[in-house]
Amino acid sequence: MRYMTRCCWWISFFILATGASSSQTLREAADRSGMLVGTAVRPQQLSESLYATTLAREFNMIEPEDVMKWETIHPAPETFDFSQGDQLVAFAVSHQMKVRGHTLTWHQQNPKWLTGQQRTPEQLARILEQHIKTVVGHYRDKVSAWDVINEAFDETTPVKLRSTIWYDQPGIGYAGKGSRYMENCFRWAHAADPGALLFYNDVEAEAVNPKSDAIYAMVRDFRRRGVPIDGVGFQMHLGNPHPDVASISQNIGRFTALGVKVHITEMDVALPVDADGNAHSADLQLQAIAYRDVASACLAHTGCTAIQTWGFTDKYSWIGSHSKHTQGAALLFDREYRAKPAYEALRKMLESSRRR
Ligand code: G3I
Repeated sequence: MRYMTRCCWWISFFILATGASSSQTLREAADRSGMLVGTAVRPQQLSESLYATTLAREFNMIEPEDVMKWETIHPAPETFDFSQGDQLVAFAVSHQMKVRGHTLTWHQQNPKWLTGQQRTPEQLARILEQHIKTVVGHYRDKVSAWDVINEAFDETTPVKLRSTIWYDQPGIGYAGKGSRYMENCFRWAHAADPGALLFYNDVEAEAVNPKSDAIYAMVRDFRRRGVPIDGVGFQMHLGNPHPDVASISQNIGRFTALGVKVHITEMDVALPVDADGNAHSADLQLQAIAYRDVASACLAHTGCTAIQTWGFTDKYSWIGSHSKHTQGAALLFDREYRAKPAYEALRKMLESSRRR
């Protein structure tokens, strides 16, 4: 009896220390509700035991935060380096997780050999086609969904296509012709892996607004004309814990009504932090509500099939360096891998879902 008491105390201590609970994990709750719950991953952290065990226990999908971007995966004109991407895929395979690929076409994190030299549109088109077909071909049947295009619309009013190397600097041959240049990217990716789901992914388009209106018009046009697009990713980088949930739900609804899937692809909820990186407990509660409500908006539409966060521990998040450490604490686990109120709110929302 005395042994039992001590034993149970240790179990409780372990549960609190690791953030696990006797109820379902996030991953179990997602599996049972037929949802994907994913997170961005940095392969260099996989050797850290708590990082790897938390990742495998809590998520059924991973996405490389940086290592499938051009500068890493295509470091020289004739060189592809799949080593870090392969490491993530191997981790996913050994833990029965899906992989989202990110990203084939973006204006950031491109290598100098690509951006530092003048080329004709024909030359650039050949380079992009070779890149997309090589990368998607390498991960054929291993990466289940790709962000084919990332952030092609800018933040101006009225919304325009962003001026990029791919669109009009000099572009791949369709400068001034709207979203036409993106069609080729989707077709090249589809040719390399007809089984992969192909996504358009963007930031600040989660609610109904001019940017999501522009993306909506493009996706509707692509669907009508048979361009192989399967989904839209809403990044969901929230700068405060007060999302307009009604508008987010309405937006998800209109996109899924087009017959495409929606994935929440990069969610984090940045909070003000002190010099030690700590947030106020009241803000952590508001953050929990934000995660819960965004999940609820997704779960309300059967075409919204994935909720993914941009990292999972506050120990490793882009928010800190990006905000000069005035913001942080944006994710589901704290820097010691303890589950935060946001974790429990998201877990409970998934647990209560009756989608299956
Ligand atoms: O690779 C260098 C490394 O050699 C060097 O030692 C180190 C020193 O700081 O920097 C490394 O590069 C960093 C790179 O990530 C790879 O880790 C850059 O400094 C850093 O700025 C870069 O940040 C990434 C950012 O995209 C680039 O814009 C973040 O990790 C990544 O979280 C962020 O992710 C984007 C999504 O892809 C698209 N949506 C927005 C999201 C947040 O910005």
